[in-house]
Amino acid sequence: MRTLVVYESMFGNTRHVADAIARGLESAGTVTTVPVTRAADEELSSYDLVMVGGPTHVHGMSRESTRHGAAVTAHKPDSTVALEPDAESEGIREWLDSLPPSHGKAAAFDTRADAPALLTGRASKGICRKLRLRGFDLVAESESFLVDKESRLEEGEEARAEQWGRTLAQQVSSARA
Ligand SMILES: Cc1cc2nc3c(=O)[nH]c(=O)nc-3n(C[C@H](O)[C@H](O)[C@H](O)COP(=O)(O)O)c2cc1C
Repeated sequence: MRTLVVYESMFGNTRHVADAIARGLESAGTVTTVPVTRAADEELSSYDLVMVGGPTHVHGMSRESTRHGAAVTAHKPDSTVALEPDAESEGIREWLDSLPPSHGKAAAFDTRADAPALLTGRASKGICRKLRLRGFDLVAESESFLVDKESRLEEGEEARAEQWGRTLAQQVSSARA
């Protein structure tokens, strides 16, 4: 099974989650993990599964204005976060909007604050909507991984992401058999 994991990350948390999901998915085959800034180089139809994830900003996927807000936060003298390379480039929202009609299997994930989703919103909800609009079949419920008030991944979330990847790998590869 060939899987592509595409992620967006301002402060590194969604990158860590993407890498952990990829480790879990490797139990079923090869996994290519790319930041969204490099996703345009990938031929999506050559993958059996496409995983897409990003941080929750203002209840949904990031926008240019929220990415700028995140960069301002990171540059404050008392900041506890550091910006990822290309953090202010286009995000998952813009990449999904640029895709031609597609087909194939996909699933979405996000990172968000550790509080009820009704209050925080979930980037993965919008990611799922756009994936469906592009023609992808969603093979799993989307999943959120939680950060604390200082935007650091909560303990155990990387392990949970790896386990989620392993479970998805089993599900998708047994459906293909
Ligand atoms: C501008 C901005 C807006 C945010 N809005 C939300 C929000 O509406 N809901 C939420 O749960 N978290 C929100 N957060 C917290 C982010 O979800 C959290 O910082 C992110 O998951 C970290 O992922 P990253 O390290 O990959 O950028 C916001 C963060 C920033 C910088």
